[in-house]
Formats: sequence, structure tokens, C-alpha cells
Amino acid sequence: MKTVYITRRETFNAAHKLYREDWSEEKNWEVFGKCSNANWHGHNFSIWVTVKGVTNEDTGFVINLKDLSKIIKELVVEPLDHKNLNLDVPFLHGLLPSTEIMAIEIWKLIDQPIKDAGGELAKIKLVETENNFVEYYGGKEPF
Ligand code: NI
Repeated sequence: MKTVYITRRETFNAAHKLYREDWSEEKNWEVFGKCSNANWHGHNFSIWVTVKGVTNEDTGFVINLKDLSKIIKELVVEPLDHKNLNLDVPFLHGLLPSTEIMAIEIWKLIDQPIKDAGGELAKIKLVETENNFVEYYGGKEPF
């Protein structure tokens, strides 16, 4: 049996700011720069969800991409798209919505549903800008 990794991409856009209330304006500016802008800023995010497994004898699939897409759309895109990540999103409430924290929290949401659909979540890649992205392997070393 050969392990195969398959990836589905979905996109959403959202606003946020990186700012700590318990820090001064100056310290927030020093650490977060423009990202601390009081009146928010936005990104066109893309999320790449990679599932690992072996191919199903009947379908040739590791996971049905229709099922994977549905999980990501319902649990990630729906709650995040066109939202303010600091204010509107229950699963990010009280957290600093950096791309890193978002990837960690998204993992917690989709890990079990992907198992239920017969796959194993291997990696989340969350792209914030064309120059910045995060890769998260559930807290494990990648390979
Ligand atoms: Ni930002």
C-alpha cells in the first residue's frame, strides 16, 4: 500500500489586526507595524488542506475531494469569509488572529470531520499574501 498526499484549495477573504490591548501603542507598532492599524486591513487568504492515505480499491481516491471541499467550505470558509477575524469568529475569540494561530485553530475544526470522511489530515497551508504563508502539521514534525 502506497501513501499518497492529496490537497484541496479553497479561498476566502477577511479583515483583521494584530494588536495587544495589554501593550502600548508604541510597542504594538514596534512589533506588529502596519498590521496593528486601528481600522483593520484585509487579506485574500487561500487554504490548502492536505490529506494522506492509501487509494480506495473501488474509487482510486484517498478521499473524495467533493467531501473534503464540503468540510472546508462549511467549517472554514463559511465562518471566515468576509468576516472580521478579531470580532466575528467564535473559534478565534480572544486569540490574536495571526496566520499561525488561524492554522492551528482550523486544524482542530477539520481534523475529526476528515477522519470521519475516511482521510487523515496531514497538513494545512494557509497563505496570507503571495510572500507569506504558514504550514502546520498538527504540531508534529512533517516527515
Ligand atoms: Ni494581516
